[in-house]
Amino acid sequence: MTESRDTVARVDAEALQREALSAIEAASTANELDELRVRYLGRSSELKLALREVRDRETGMALNAVRVAIEAAVSSRQATLERAELDRALTEDVVDVTLPGDHLPLGHLHPITQTRREIEDAFLGLGYEVRDDREVETTEYNFDKLAFDPWHPARSQRATFFLDETHVLRTETSPSQIHAMEEREPPIYMVSIGRCYRRDAIDATHYPIFHQFEGLAVDRGLTLADLKGTLLHVMRALYGPDRRVRFRTHYFPFTEPSIEPDVSCGICGGAGCRTCKHSGWLEMGGAGMVDPRVLANVGIDHEDWSGFAFGCGIERVAQLKYDFPDIRPLWDGDLRVLRQF
Ligand code: PHE
Repeated sequence: MTESRDTVARVDAEALQREALSAIEAASTANELDELRVRYLGRSSELKLALREVRDRETGMALNAVRVAIEAAVSSRQATLERAELDRALTEDVVDVTLPGDHLPLGHLHPITQTRREIEDAFLGLGYEVRDDREVETTEYNFDKLAFDPWHPARSQRATFFLDETHVLRTETSPSQIHAMEEREPPIYMVSIGRCYRRDAIDATHYPIFHQFEGLAVDRGLTLADLKGTLLHVMRALYGPDRRVRFRTHYFPFTEPSIEPDVSCGICGGAGCRTCKHSGWLEMGGAGMVDPRVLANVGIDHEDWSGFAFGCGIERVAQLKYDFPDIRPLWDGDLRVLRQF
C-alpha cells in the first residue's frame, strides 16, 4: 500500500517537473510567469499538497528537489524576461533629452501690481511704513478731516460714489493721512497704496476705479525741500537716475502751500515731444505741506511738527514706465495685452 503510493507520487513528480519547466520556459510575460508560479508552487498547488502528504524521507527529498528545480526555473525565467524588457525599453523607448520640454503656462503679475511693488520698494528703502487702508470711507475721513469745504465739488454725488449719506467709496488715498496721524504719534513716515473711485467717464486716461499712492511725513522741521528731495528720489527709483522734478503751485484743501510735481519727460529728455505735449515735463499728481487745520483735526501741534504729503496715480506711473497710450486694457483682462508687460 505504502509502496504503491510512493510510486505514484514519484511518477507524478517527474511528470509535474517536466510539465512545469516547459511551461515556465514558454512564459513570455511577467504576468504569465506569475500565474505559473502560483499554479506550480502556490499553497494549493499539486506539489504543495503532495509535500503535505509525505510520510517517508525518500519521497520528501524527491518532491523537494522538484520544488527547488521549479523555483530555480521561475527565477531564471524572471531574470530573462526582465532583461528582455530592459533591452526593449532601451531600444524602442527612445528619449531625446535635447528636445524642449512641455510648455507649462505660468502667470505673471499684472502691470499695476508690478508698479505697486516697485513703489513699495522705493519707499521701504526710505524707511516708510506701507499701509493698506479701507476703500469704503466715511465722509468725515474722506472730506471733513481733510478740510474740504462744505461746498467743495468733490462732495457732490456727481463726482463721488455715495453708499449712503455718510459713506463713500474713497475718492483718493488721502484719508490714510488722517488714519496714520490718529493712530500714532509723530514722527510718521508712511505710504498708503490702493484703489480709489470717482464718477469719471471712461477714456484713455480715466477710469472710475484707479490706484493711488499717498505719502505722508510728519516730523520736526520738515520743509518743501524735504518733499522735493523725497519725490526726486522716488521718481528716479521708478524712472531712472537722470530724471528731474519741478513744482507748480496748485490748490488742495488739505495742504498749504499746495503744489503739483512734474517729472522731466524721459522720452525727449526734457526737450519736448508728443508724450509731454512739448513741455518737457510730465504731471505726477498732487503734493504740499500738511495744512495746519488738518494737523489740528488730528490733535498734532503745528508749532512743534510739520509735514508734507503727496499723492500720485499708479496707472499714470505704469503708463509712463511701460509707455502705453490707453489705460482701458488694464481692466479688460485680455491676456494678449497683459502678457506684454
Ligand atoms: N489727493 C490728491 C488727489 O487725488 C493728491 C494729493 C495728495 C495732494 C496729497 C496733496 C497731498 O488729487
